[in-house]
Amino acid sequence: MNQHSEDTNPSNLSWQALLPREQRWHALGQRPVIAWFTGLSGAGKSSIANAVDDALLQAGRHAMVLDGDNLRHGLSSDLGFSALDRIENIRRAAETARLMAEAGLVVIVSLISPFRQERATARQIAGDVPFLEIFIDTSLQVCETRDPKGLYRRARGGEISNFTGISAPYEVPDQPDVIVQTEGCTVDQSAAALISKLLQTSSFD
Ligand code: ADX
Repeated sequence: MNQHSEDTNPSNLSWQALLPREQRWHALGQRPVIAWFTGLSGAGKSSIANAVDDALLQAGRHAMVLDGDNLRHGLSSDLGFSALDRIENIRRAAETARLMAEAGLVVIVSLISPFRQERATARQIAGDVPFLEIFIDTSLQVCETRDPKGLYRRARGGEISNFTGISAPYEVPDQPDVIVQTEGCTVDQSAAALISKLLQTSSFD
């Protein structure tokens, strides 16, 4: 049986042509790129994402952060933390990132995104938009010591189930495009090399 009901059958839809995107990117003076941050809760993804966003803005680039916690207040507010819900959360973020990239933005996605397969799917969804998988490499031990939101303590206490690193898996990237170390570094130190790379990749020349 067809997995789509007649209401959602893609063969009933057509793809509407849009204005040439090169024209749009030229008007903005930059090329899009998707920087997909993955790492444990408390790894420093949001802090580094904000530092990168700020540096890009100061350099005159147009960027946008899609943060996991924030998406879960709106676009993904119906989703929890089962494997299936995380897969759907990642798919939605990837599709949103692709749309923002089509508009010409440097899109910084900051999600735990614990599964290799789903990160590969996010890259596929990006299509021909440059996609960088950025591993925010902070050990579970350090994340748990930092515990900025007190979530590890609550997960250890059994108050939160399916918690990444404690009771749900995190699959370390095999071949990330960039590895960002955070242990013993300031946020600015961690972000520096990535900022240069994104300035280069999003340059129109
Ligand atoms: S993902 O796995 O679907 O990519 P996402 O990045 O959106 O996760 O959300 C992670 C954020 O949700 C964490 O930073 C944390 O604040 C919060 N959170 C709440 N419950 C959990 C949980 N069970 N596992 C991981 N993070 C959780």
